[in-house]
Amino acid sequence: MTERLMDAAGRVLTEAKAYSDERRLHDALAHLRAHAPVSWVDVPPYAPFWAITKHSDIMDIERQNDLFTNDPRPFLEIAEFDAKQRADREAGAGLNSLIHTDDPHHRDLRKIGADWFKPSALKALQIRCGELSKIWVDKMVEIGPEIDFAQDIAVNYPLYLILTLLGMPESDFGFMLKLTQEIFGANDAEMARGGSSQASEAFMAAVMDMFVYFTTLTASRRENPTDDLASAIANARINGEPLTDMDTLSYYAIVASAGHDTTSAGIAGGLLALLEHPDQLSRLQADPSLMGTAVEEMIRWVTPVKEFMRTAKADTEVRGVPINKDESVLLSYVSANRDEDVFENPDTFDIGRDPNKHLSFGYGVHFCLGASLARMEIRSFFSELIPRIKSIELAGTPEHLSTLFVGGLKHLPIRVELQ
Ligand code: HEM
Repeated sequence: MTERLMDAAGRVLTEAKAYSDERRLHDALAHLRAHAPVSWVDVPPYAPFWAITKHSDIMDIERQNDLFTNDPRPFLEIAEFDAKQRADREAGAGLNSLIHTDDPHHRDLRKIGADWFKPSALKALQIRCGELSKIWVDKMVEIGPEIDFAQDIAVNYPLYLILTLLGMPESDFGFMLKLTQEIFGANDAEMARGGSSQASEAFMAAVMDMFVYFTTLTASRRENPTDDLASAIANARINGEPLTDMDTLSYYAIVASAGHDTTSAGIAGGLLALLEHPDQLSRLQADPSLMGTAVEEMIRWVTPVKEFMRTAKADTEVRGVPINKDESVLLSYVSANRDEDVFENPDTFDIGRDPNKHLSFGYGVHFCLGASLARMEIRSFFSELIPRIKSIELAGTPEHLSTLFVGGLKHLPIRVELQ
């Protein structure tokens, strides 16, 4: 057994509530980066893991995707949930999406969706994106002047876009919104199904409902293929064979869920950052050419996806610390994005920051499939909103989702006057 450097600050990565207390979170992560950048965290009911908090270590690990794999533990969950997932997967019944698999199967799966997220494909979506931005900014006027920006606007707009890309009917959008919120809100009592305190049960119940829905969708797209991403998934072939039911359903689930809450967290968190830094809001209003760097800074600042994990396939080391075969590492993107060795004044929100090598979309072969789409959506929304602002201010206390994985603001009360 190798010596394990433990630091009490690492506990923060196992506390869903810590992600709703930004000061405490960032203090703990800064401490880890300085004193224990590869830190053993053993906090039941989670299986132990190594917390990786430096930007360069995360990139090194993601680059070595044969040594550090996504299977069997792609993100942090309690040990009981991990064990169930493993058993389900061994029985061919577990989720098997892009984030659960490794090459070569991952590469084959990724090819199926890749074309739909390429800049040329996104060009076709750009017009719809602009229309939806206008619809949702108009909605702010309609339901304003006081609104909960997170719930009334930010959760809806990206959902409409990703479900349009999938080819789902608008009548089903509300149902899908509820399910994705239950999946990512499983660690938050207000958002989890039935206010469940059993995060893994709430998560699985919502996933099962999503599967039932997508089973029907697959059957219909196989019978009558249409020109949308859902048809591409339903009719895809790997080595001449159709995807298994599990692969097909997992594909829909990852696109519908990853394509939604992440971007809404970026938009709501981006707006809050502008409200908390009025000098930066005025700067953007005065110089719209800063929109590109402003969007990147919002994505760095908010870091909607908090972490992913990898598991070592062989004995190895990170930063000189021995990591044994089958031990997992947690890649803290939140920490990487405030790494003093990479970002000048990392705790300053600077809409002109350039370069901005944030790791919010990850790195390597699993780099976010929807990164260009997310950038386009956030840019389009703020390009519509910013020039129309007559006045905007907080109208209450913002509330963050308790989460260990994906999320941001749950409530953002604002008072707004637009033209
Ligand atoms: C601001 C918004 C978003 C953020 C911060 C984000 C972040 C991430 C991160 C961190 C990963 C894992 C990368 C890694 O392991 O290295 C990921 C993967 C993924 N994202 Fe996103 N994402 C966002 C929006 C989207 C959108 C709009 C879609 C559209 C479908 C999407 C689809 C995916 C998929 C399918 C994967 C799995 C890729 C793979 O494993 O090969 N994401 N995303």
